[in-house]
Amino acid sequence: MCPCLSVFLRGLFLVGIVGAGPAGLMLGHLLHRAGIDSVILESRSREYVVERVRAGVLEQGTVDLMHEAGVGDRLGREGMRHEGIYIRFGGARHRIDMAGLTGGRAITIYGQNEVVKDLMTLRFASGRPLHFEVTDLSVHDLDTRAPRVRFQHEGVQHEAACDFIAGCDGSHGVCRGAVPPSHLQTYEREYPFAWLGILASAPPTSQELVYSLSERGFALFSMRSPTITRLYLQCAPDEDVNGWSDDRIWGELIARLGSDDGWAPKPGAILQKGVTPMRSVVVEPMRYGRLFLAGDAAHIVPPTGAKGLNLAMADVRRLATAIEESYAGGGEARLDEYSDRGLRRTWRAQRFSWWMTSMLHRQEGETPFDYRRQLAELDYLVSSQAAMTSLAENYVGTPFD
Ligand code: APR
Ligand code: PHB
Repeated sequence: MCPCLSVFLRGLFLVGIVGAGPAGLMLGHLLHRAGIDSVILESRSREYVVERVRAGVLEQGTVDLMHEAGVGDRLGREGMRHEGIYIRFGGARHRIDMAGLTGGRAITIYGQNEVVKDLMTLRFASGRPLHFEVTDLSVHDLDTRAPRVRFQHEGVQHEAACDFIAGCDGSHGVCRGAVPPSHLQTYEREYPFAWLGILASAPPTSQELVYSLSERGFALFSMRSPTITRLYLQCAPDEDVNGWSDDRIWGELIARLGSDDGWAPKPGAILQKGVTPMRSVVVEPMRYGRLFLAGDAAHIVPPTGAKGLNLAMADVRRLATAIEESYAGGGEARLDEYSDRGLRRTWRAQRFSWWMTSMLHRQEGETPFDYRRQLAELDYLVSSQAAMTSLAENYVGTPFD
């Protein structure tokens, strides 16, 4: 690249944010509210980022953060607050009263892409930079006080001199890979199954989510709005979606979710189908020098506990506060504890997601003993106040610190 086409970016305080998923956008927003400039760099197009269908369960802490951060208006109007969930097994549905067991905490159904849309609107209104379709992004001098991000945008080579870089670039990003391997430990677990997910134009027949273990495997009933349902079926990790006609999907969903009281999901036009892999990843620490990893760049959880988006939001809230404190002359104590605090929350979420996953899925090679044991665990869960409270506390999430 000719140096004459090179642009050098630098504000008074500048945080380089890689990735415009929920983590990067929320971090940029929180920093903006604190008067701190940032540049957000995203490799995909704006349409792709907004349209990508992901999870949709917001913990109470995420909802509180959205409101605190002034991005909760539409969430307040359109989000669907759920105070309980159903666990279905042996043909029967059992309700867990999450709000009753946690002093009024609940979850809110609001699609991740709606969160992204709301944050993007505020970013554009702020006038601060958010670039899509950047290429050749790389991060440098991470172990100095002047880290840099290089990238190309619209055919021009750029370099941003930053005070901090936030790696919010998800599980396939470049930031994690920029940490020298000797400074990073990765813990991973692959699950021997995946989820086939659909979005359907059908009004939800249950007011609340239904998690089911059936002899045919796991299924989940969820929703996005009063007219759209979101459903998942346990499938093989290499499942070919083309082998699943709409009729086959609905037949399987009804067989796995339908219960003795006559309840079942109602079929409708399938708007989208896809396979979600199931894995757990944690990288330790979540920091290298002036690079801070947040969200999926630092950890992946299987979707059974609905923790991915919420962990990302907890990370960036801590990171924004720590950066703000350091600019305000308050020292770096919060930056220094960013990783340890995040890892504590992450491992708790990993444990919970692993537990929900193991309890609700059938595994190849399992014995009849294993299945009976799973049913006994579910039976205990729905008949013990202590066990239900444990699930409820973890599901609605602990307050963000
Ligand atoms: N340069 C710039 N951007 C990149 C690069 C790169 N080299 N690599 C990836 N990205 C972008 C991706 O295109 C994506 O938009 O980083 C963004 C990361 O966003 P997410 O994957 O949504 O991750 P995060 O913001 O951490 O959100 C966590 O995502 O795990 C899902 O649904 C899960 O709810 C969870 C949430
Ligand atoms: C979803 O609505 O997409 C959803 C709900 C609960 C989960 C995972 C995904 O555990």
